[in-house]
Amino acid sequence: MGISASIAAYKAPEIVRNFVGSGVSIQAILTPKATDFIGRSTLEALTGNVAPTFKDIGGHDYLKYIKLAKKADLIVIAPATANIIAHIAHGLASDLLETLVLARGCPLLIAPAMNENMWNNDITQENVKKLKSLGVDFVGPAKGDLACGDEGTGRLASIEDIIAAAKKIIENK
Ligand SMILES: Cc1cc2nc3c(=O)[nH]c(=O)nc-3n(C[C@H](O)[C@H](O)[C@H](O)COP(=O)(O)O)c2cc1C
Repeated sequence: MGISASIAAYKAPEIVRNFVGSGVSIQAILTPKATDFIGRSTLEALTGNVAPTFKDIGGHDYLKYIKLAKKADLIVIAPATANIIAHIAHGLASDLLETLVLARGCPLLIAPAMNENMWNNDITQENVKKLKSLGVDFVGPAKGDLACGDEGTGRLASIEDIIAAAKKIIENK
């Protein structure tokens, strides 16, 4: 599970808890900026696995994570920022999470969370359209109150919807 630097990152541990509770084994990877939003220790305690960034790993570990990305059943990015969606749509590998997404051998599910204008921006919509055309799945964003004080589309999908979307992908694999 990838976590990027959205205000909605505080919901990530609850999503992880739900996945773990339904018997799923999780490797959490945060973007470097996401570590300002949520503590790695929380995710490490919930998953039982180290939650690394590039600066924490050496060559041996790097290969271990590349292998993991190849054999994982699914990568879920929740929350996904406009930035990481843009990076993935352009094949960038500027941090460990983006590198693993590019190296993956499994489906990718993206749960965006952002301000409504960021979501509706033509560039974001182009990136989403491109990724969907390449087989990437999306869940949300939902409509409702946004952290910026606005109301609109941009809220992270509910935990139930994220888990249901992930299950559906795995069952249809
Ligand atoms: C307090 C705060 C909240 C933010 N919330 C969001 C958000 O919900 N969605 C988003 O796309 N970007 C948000 N940003 C901007 C991202 O953090 C910024 O684009 C960052 O470069 C994303 O890095 P990452 O995609 O590598 O994690 C927020 C920034 C700050 C300071």
